[in-house]
Amino acid sequence: MKLLRDNAPVCEISSDCLVVAVLDGGPLSPSVEAIDEAGQGGITEMLKSRDIAAGAGKTTMIHQPAGIAAKRLLLVGLGKVEKLTLARFNDACQKAGKVLRDHPIKSCHASLHDIEFGGANEHALLRQSALALHNGNYLYTVTKQLKEEAPAPLEHVTLLAGPELQDAIDQAQGYAAGFEKAKMLGDLPPNICTPAYLAQEAAAIAKAHDRVELEILEESRMAELGMDALLGVSRGSAHDARLIVLHYRGADENEKPVALVGKGITFDSGGLSLKSGENMMQMKYDMCGAAGVIGAFVACAKLGLNINVVCIVAAVENMPDGDAYRPGDVLTSMSGKTIEVLNTDAEGRLVLCDALTYSERFEPRFVIDVATLTGACVVALGHHASGLMSNDDELADALLAAGDTIVDRAWRLPLWDEYQTQLDTPFADMKNVGGMSAGVLTAGCFLSRFAEDLRWAHLDVAGSAWKWGGNDGASGRPVGLLTQFLADQAG
Ligand code: BES
Ligand code: MN
Ligand code: ZN
Repeated sequence: MKLLRDNAPVCEISSDCLVVAVLDGGPLSPSVEAIDEAGQGGITEMLKSRDIAAGAGKTTMIHQPAGIAAKRLLLVGLGKVEKLTLARFNDACQKAGKVLRDHPIKSCHASLHDIEFGGANEHALLRQSALALHNGNYLYTVTKQLKEEAPAPLEHVTLLAGPELQDAIDQAQGYAAGFEKAKMLGDLPPNICTPAYLAQEAAAIAKAHDRVELEILEESRMAELGMDALLGVSRGSAHDARLIVLHYRGADENEKPVALVGKGITFDSGGLSLKSGENMMQMKYDMCGAAGVIGAFVACAKLGLNINVVCIVAAVENMPDGDAYRPGDVLTSMSGKTIEVLNTDAEGRLVLCDALTYSERFEPRFVIDVATLTGACVVALGHHASGLMSNDDELADALLAAGDTIVDRAWRLPLWDEYQTQLDTPFADMKNVGGMSAGVLTAGCFLSRFAEDLRWAHLDVAGSAWKWGGNDGASGRPVGLLTQFLADQAG
């Protein structure tokens, strides 16, 4: 979908649909006021009689609205102005994007940002509305037959704003491309989206963008490097693992890169510690960490950010097999640290530890790993916040702030030493599970042992990257948070 800009008077626009915002109890936005006047107060009447729903996230579609040139008018409820936040605004705009997808409309015009509430400025609101419309409008079609009457995404959305706000729209377009890539990769089935497929996808990204280079490490190379933790997980799979390394060189070559490391378990059966059917069902999404870092990388390249980024994806499938790794096995990671595997379903940390060690060679400024790492994170934070753990307060604060700015929020969890003892075992330097309590933290503690010399943060996106049991598909998160962070770092 292409995002365009125009600042013609709202009543004169001949559009298939005009999209505007309404606050419960007012005041009317300038756009809505103009439309109301052109229609002799019809909108005010309908708000009073509740034929237009102004509650947060409610939408009302009106055909042949009186007095204006547009064929349809979509009113997007934002609730009471006192309760309005950027998060609520984002949510309502995303819902509008979904409504538009489900109508036979190819394009629309939107003016959702011309409202005022505490804090958010016009630029931020315009950018958020454009991105949220794009995100809500996304439709997975790769493995479906296309029917004519089926819903379809818009071809373009024209935002009503002056030329001074073009930048907000350009930014939204870049972020949206990253989200779209991450959603698509996340939603693909595991028989298509294999480690080799992710490597191909990376090759396509490298080809399509300037200043991007690609390295792929095959299993033989990883064996030479001593990545036996990663390779242990891969052993049960018929699909060979790949370590995918994408470089974006947007700044001077002497400038240290930000490293993004993604968990790319293309399917997590649990291995010999096999998951139950219910729990296995959605494990195609176990590469959403990889999808997130790839998406952010794409956004960064599209926006041409003035920064160096290295994106490392551990693409591996976790399967049971006669040659699969077993509970009780001790693996030696690339760092030399040994790991007793007590549960083959705690595989994410095993592939990530070697990817983190590999990242050291790029002397990164910061390393951020992203993973659908623990069910415990979903229990703790649900689907609204990603779990953030870090050994660096400045980095943690910058990531939290980036998430708040673009409404892709994270919440910091403690990585205190006290939790580390849960990983003790007589048989190796550590075990790969920490027992019943604080599962999200002991996973973070495990990773922290491979990041001692790094300014590092870990994002557990098990709850935020997709909604367990729902039909919504991948959210594309944390593409927004990561891209905003990179943009902030680029200055
Ligand atoms: N990919 C899962 C985590 C997961 C579960 C993400 C459900 C999203 C929804 C991970 O590999 C896993 O299986 N973790 C185990 C760890 C445990 C064995 C210590 C878990 O969370 O149960
Ligand atoms: Mn697992
Ligand atoms: Zn997993």
